[in-house]
Amino acid sequence: MPTWDINAIRALFPALQRTHQERPVVYLDGPAGSQVPVSVADAVSHYLLSTNSNRGAASATAIASDAVLEAAHKTFADFLGAEDPASIYFGANMTSLTMACSRALAKQWGPGDEIIVSRLDHDANVTPWVLAATERGATVRHIDLHPEDWTLNQQDFRSKLNERTKLVAIGYASNATGTINPVGRMIEQARSAGALTFIDAVHYAPHGRLNAGELNCDFLACSAYKFFGPHVGIMYGRPELLESIRPFKLRPSTDALPGKWMTGTQCHEGIAGAAAAVQYLASLSQLPESTSLGERLDAAFAWIGTHESALTAAFLDGLKEIPELQIHGIVQANQLTDRAPTFSVTHRSQSPAQLAAGLAEQGVYAWAGNHYALPFTEAAGLEPGGTLRLGALHYNTVDEVHRSLECLRQLV
Ligand SMILES: Cc1ncc(COP(=O)(O)O)c(C=O)c1O
Repeated sequence: MPTWDINAIRALFPALQRTHQERPVVYLDGPAGSQVPVSVADAVSHYLLSTNSNRGAASATAIASDAVLEAAHKTFADFLGAEDPASIYFGANMTSLTMACSRALAKQWGPGDEIIVSRLDHDANVTPWVLAATERGATVRHIDLHPEDWTLNQQDFRSKLNERTKLVAIGYASNATGTINPVGRMIEQARSAGALTFIDAVHYAPHGRLNAGELNCDFLACSAYKFFGPHVGIMYGRPELLESIRPFKLRPSTDALPGKWMTGTQCHEGIAGAAAAVQYLASLSQLPESTSLGERLDAAFAWIGTHESALTAAFLDGLKEIPELQIHGIVQANQLTDRAPTFSVTHRSQSPAQLAAGLAEQGVYAWAGNHYALPFTEAAGLEPGGTLRLGALHYNTVDEVHRSLECLRQLV
């Protein structure tokens, strides 16, 4: 059984060496964007300096560039648990990919059709669907939340699902409360009703192993800058759907998968860096490179899960000792696996922005506001200030959690 040396892992991230008033900075802003290891920056730089080219030419650089991009489709098929590399496509970010996907799917909707979105989601998995449905005269239904812990009300979901439902869009994990939703069960129920399913895995991707094939979803989106890569969006689509649906596209661009769904010239260097981020994650497994990428990712995420459960437990224990703060989300110690180490808290008099500024002065980087999870902050009555969000990733330590909570305690 390998042992994980967190200091050796942290040493791979130059940003984690940053200091503030002679103390190391604590990055609890991972949900807004993670830091990157040297190998990711090297892959971006190598692409630009050695293989920079547009697609499909006969030159040596174009051939090398095409090989990098083709390999990235394979890498992301393994990362997302998809069989076919052609079912993976890239774009600027999850929001742009979702806007384009919603517009394409909505061509088949009309009055009388319904779609379901949730009040726990990031707005990128709500507004694109609402805009597309509204344009087509379809009805939008919203899954309500349990006010005690802001989890999705499954009974409400089932009551809204029916034979008119064309699409169910749900988040794998909330970027505001950290809650991991029971997406497997919800996808199964949606499919039984004949609806397509779209999973926003942006917040989940750095925390848990993805498997679109096992989930049996139709679309799944994530964003590499949340899992130690550059700013690139990645989508999985069920191959039959990608084949049969026509996206909004230019005439000269290919009709073959996956290029059919990729608009314009991609950020090639970003895609190269995103693939390197997957390789970095796989390297955490400490398994030999001869082991399949999928198995190495399984082992890496098993370790990440264990380490992050310790971070979650430390947050929950510490936050409960600061009675001035209210946690919005799951707080039970026996539900550690139902949440990521992402916490939204509020104070009765100090605003989230004041708390985040106070923490930043002490070198603790957290986030304040609605985190674009506006449907949630509205439903929970947390507007206009939103929440203070403390979000850890596997490169954080229990000591950092303790230090951050001590700073917070002093502030309140
Ligand atoms: C859960 C979730 N979904 C979607 C997005 C949007 O991702 P992108 O910035 O790639 O458009 C974010 C970004 O914060 C997010 O946290």
